[in-house]
Amino acid sequence: MSHSPFQADTLKNQVALITGGGSGICLGVVRSLGLHGAKVAIMGRNLEKLQQACSELEQQNIDCYAVQGDVRDPELCQNAIDQTIKHFGGLNILVNGAAGNFLCAPEDLSPNGFKTVIDIDLCGTFNMCHFAYPHLKGQGLILNISATLHYTGTPFQLHVSAAKAGIDALTLNLATEWGADGIRVCGIAPGPIGDTEGMKRLAPPQILEQVKESVPLKRFGSVEDIGIAAVFLASSAAHYITGETLVVDGGQWASKPAMIPKELVKQMSQANRKK
Ligand code: HXC
Repeated sequence: MSHSPFQADTLKNQVALITGGGSGICLGVVRSLGLHGAKVAIMGRNLEKLQQACSELEQQNIDCYAVQGDVRDPELCQNAIDQTIKHFGGLNILVNGAAGNFLCAPEDLSPNGFKTVIDIDLCGTFNMCHFAYPHLKGQGLILNISATLHYTGTPFQLHVSAAKAGIDALTLNLATEWGADGIRVCGIAPGPIGDTEGMKRLAPPQILEQVKESVPLKRFGSVEDIGIAAVFLASSAAHYITGETLVVDGGQWASKPAMIPKELVKQMSQANRKK
C-alpha cells in the first residue's frame, strides 16, 4: 500500500478476524490490516472463495487463514473464533462485515426476505461480538461495517436500512457496555465504493456516472479507502475513539438535491446583497 501514511508494522502482533472477508469491501479491509502487520483470519460461507483470497493475500506476504462459517449460526461463529485463536494464538480485532443485500420494495418483500437480511447483518454481528467478547477483553477492537442508507429514507432498502440502524445501535451500546473491559467498538459507514458487489447490486452501469456526480468529491471510493480507515481505527492513533461510526463516503449522504437550485440561490443572494 504505497500511499498509506501508517508504518507497515502499525498492527504488528495483532490478530484480526473479518467476517465476509473473502470479497468486496471487506477483502479490502483484510488486505489493509494485513499490509500493516496484522495476522488475518477470514470467515465466509464459501470456502473456495476464502481460500482463493488467502492465496492472493499470501502473495503479498500477509499471514492469512480461512475458516468457513455462516454468521447466522451461533455454533459456527463460536467455531470461527476458536479456530482463529487456535491458529494464530489470540484475537485482538473483530471486523463484522458479512452482509446480505438486494433491492426490493417493502410491499414486495416477504417476511423471510426481511428476516434473512436482519439475520445476516444484525444478528450475525451480535453473534460474533458475543462469542468474541471474552477474548477481546483487556485490549480489543470491534469494527462494525455499516452504511449511510438509514440516515435518510432509501428506496428499496428498507430491510438493509433496518439492519444497519441496528448495527449502529450495537456499536454505540457495546462501546458503553464494554469500554471498561478495554474493548473499543467502532463502525465504518462506506459510501459508494467502486467495483464492489454492493455497487453492482444497487446501481446499474448506466447510472454510475450520475452517482459519481452526486458525490461532492466527484469520485467513487475505493476498497483501500475503507481499508485505511480500518487501519486508523485499529491503530493507537484512535485509542480514545469508541462508539463512533466513521462515515467514509466522499460527502455523499450529506449532499441531497438542493431544495432550491444552486443557480437560483446565487441569483437571490446577489439581488439581496447590500449595496
Ligand atoms: C426479493 C429476495 C431477493 C430479491 C432473496 N430474497 N433475494 N426477495 N428480491 N432479490 C428473499 C427470498 O425470496 C427468500 O424469501 C429470502 O429472501 C431468503 O432468500 P435465500 O436466497 O433463501 O437466502 P440465502 O441463500 O440465505 O441468501 C441471502 C441473500 C443473498 C441476502 C438473499 O443475496 C446472499 O447470500 N447475499 C450475500 C452476498 C451479498 O448480498 N453481498 C452484498 C453485500 S453489499 P422467501 O419468502 O421467498 O422464502 C452490502 C452493501 C450495503 O451489504 C449497503 C451499501 C451502500
